[in-house]
This record gives sequence, structure tokens and C-alpha cells, in this order.
Amino acid sequence: MKSIIVEGPGQMKLVETQVPYPRGGEVRVRVHHAGICGSDIHIYHGTHPFVRYPRVIGHEFAGIIDAVGAGVSAARVGQRVAVTPVISCGECYQCRVGRPNVCANLQVLGVHRDGGFSEFCCVPADLAHPVPDIVDDCAAATVEPFSIAANMLSRTGVEPFEVALVYGAGPIGMTVIQALKGVHRVEKLIVVDHIETRLNWARAAGADLAIDTSNLELPGFLAERGLKPTLIIDAACHPSILEEAIELASPAARIGLMGFSPDPSSVSQRKLNAKELSIFASRLNNRQFPNVINWMAGGQINPAQFISHHFPFTSVHDAFALLEATPADCCKVMLDFA
Ligand code: NAI
Ligand code: MN
Repeated sequence: MKSIIVEGPGQMKLVETQVPYPRGGEVRVRVHHAGICGSDIHIYHGTHPFVRYPRVIGHEFAGIIDAVGAGVSAARVGQRVAVTPVISCGECYQCRVGRPNVCANLQVLGVHRDGGFSEFCCVPADLAHPVPDIVDDCAAATVEPFSIAANMLSRTGVEPFEVALVYGAGPIGMTVIQALKGVHRVEKLIVVDHIETRLNWARAAGADLAIDTSNLELPGFLAERGLKPTLIIDAACHPSILEEAIELASPAARIGLMGFSPDPSSVSQRKLNAKELSIFASRLNNRQFPNVINWMAGGQINPAQFISHHFPFTSVHDAFALLEATPADCCKVMLDFA
């Protein structure tokens, strides 16, 4: 079989390897499709904080189970599955309080262990979530990015009468935007970005107001229109955004932060407490795959709108080059394995 392996910073290769055999408790997935994430590009360039090389990358993938290891029901062979990349120990504090996505011994497929940019991939059986026929193979490979939105919104909670504000209409922002409109049907959704093509995606996904803020002072703009966001999600992830979000938030609002910048944000405790705001962090997903698969089965989100490009997996270098050269035109770039 062929796998896409990053041997070290800047060294990505297509290599021929042995098809792996599933060990006890594992299933083998014949990968159909896998999405490229910003973090795969970081691993490629050596700017990912956790990766160890060499690594078969890819953590957004789906396929069909073609073999099972000891202790796994043979009835699973032939099942179409989407694979969550989060492996937890089940024993640490976080696991015991139901937060396995921040496990003390967290292993992420494609980061700490070999991932899904491969014709076959063996994974613990409980990571492989069955997908109903109504969800097509490409859509199944987008369950992981949508699970990022599902996790964030499960942390903040969402009411239908919310005035929601999303910073950033990149791939991650788009999963949040689709979920806020398609699943939660929020009354008002405001999206801000600096790229017109991306604001157009947000409009197509139902944003009521999509604003280019590159030359606009957002707090004043919203105040003039009497808009006080009650739920704010930062999917643009610049540390300065938290300060502005606190400024323009309604009292009792919730603010969700998606970013991993090491730089500090400047936060006034007086402003936080005067409005009694809540701030939520979110990492990967905590058992959100079944929820996202249900959203897809019910037609509440639109994976086809989210996928912008397809490449055969053997053209992975071209796919990465396109994403890096023209990010404004790319949403999810998909590698096709079968
Ligand atoms: P992206 O870079 O494609 O999208 C970010 C968007 O924000 C761009 O369209 C950009 O124009 C816009 N933007 C930047 N600064 C802005 C500002 N000040 N105001 C308004 N818009 C602004 O990135 P992508 O792939 O969508 O990911 C977004 C973030 O989500 C990344 O920082 C990534 O690390 C994070 N992430 C977090 C995860 C989690 O589990 N918490 C999982 C996956 C990604
Ligand atoms: Mn990802």
C-alpha cells in the first residue's frame, strides 16, 4: 500500500509500505477520503508543537472496515466508518470526569500516531463510527472538522434566540457557521473576516450579516445598529480578538476561543465581571462524532459546500501547494484514495 509520510520538516513522501494487520481491539480501515487540515501543513513545515517524525499524517478521514483484530465482531467488516482521531487512557482525572479529549496521555492519530493519509489504517475499534448510507464517502471524511464546531458549541450552549458573532470564515469558522444556522437555527448570525471570498461562503451558509472588518471598527459598527452579540466564537484566533469580544459582548454572553496562539490576550477583569461573561476553551472533540453524523444524516449541515477541492492522494504535493498559494480560495481540500 501507499502512505503519505512526513519524515522531517519539509520532507513529505509517498512511500510503499506493508498493509498493516489489525491488532486485538483494532479494525483496519480502507481509507476512501481524507481532508487536509492547517495542522497537517504545520507538521509538514516543522511548526507543529506536538508531532514526532517520521509520521504518516492525516486526522480527518473515513473509509470502510476491511479486517478486524481479535475481540472485534467480524460483523463490522464492510461497515462504512468515520474515524475520530482522539485516543485517551480512560484512567486520568480528565478521563474520569468525562473529558477524554484533554487526556493526560492523549494520542492524536496523524500527530502522535500514524494517521489516515494512507490506503489502509489500523485504529482502535471504538474510534471507527458507523456512517449511514445517506452520508456519502466524502461527507464522512468531514465529520472530524465539524466535530470541532460541535465540541465548541456543546461547551458554550446555544439558544435559538442568540445574536451570534463568528470571527473568521476559514474552514473552522465555516463549520461553526453551518452548525449555528443549520443545527441551532440562531436568530441572527454575524460573521466577520478580511477576505471577501470567505465572507461569500458565510453568506451562502446563511449568515445574516457578513462584514469585512479590515477597515472597519466593529464595536462601533455593531453599537450603531443596536447589535449586542450574546454568543461569540473566535475562529480567527488572534490574541487581540478576545479584548474586542469582551468590549462588544452583551451582558451574560459566552465567548468561545478556538486558537492556540502562545501570545497573551489583554483582559479586563472589571469588564468581564461587570457583564458576568463566560469564556470557553475547546480542543478537538469529546464524543461528538455520533452527533455530527446525525446532523449530516438529517441534512442540517452541508459538507458539499465545505469541500472546495479534490486531488488524487498521489498528488498530495500539488494539493498542499494550492492550499498554501491560494488559501482564500480553498476551504476543505480533500485527498481521494479510492
Ligand atoms: P484559517 O487561517 O484558514 O482561517 C482563519 C480566518 O480568520 C481567515 O479567513 C482570516 O482571514 C480570518 N481572520 C484573521 N484575523 C481576523 C480578524 N482579526 N478578524 C476577522 N477575521 C480574521 O484557519 P482555519 O483552518 O479555519 O483554523 C482557524 C483556527 O482554528 C486556527 O487557529 C486553528 O489553530 C484553530 N483550530 C482549533 C481547533 C480546536 O480544537 N480548538 C481545531 C482545529 C483548528
Ligand atoms: Mn483538522
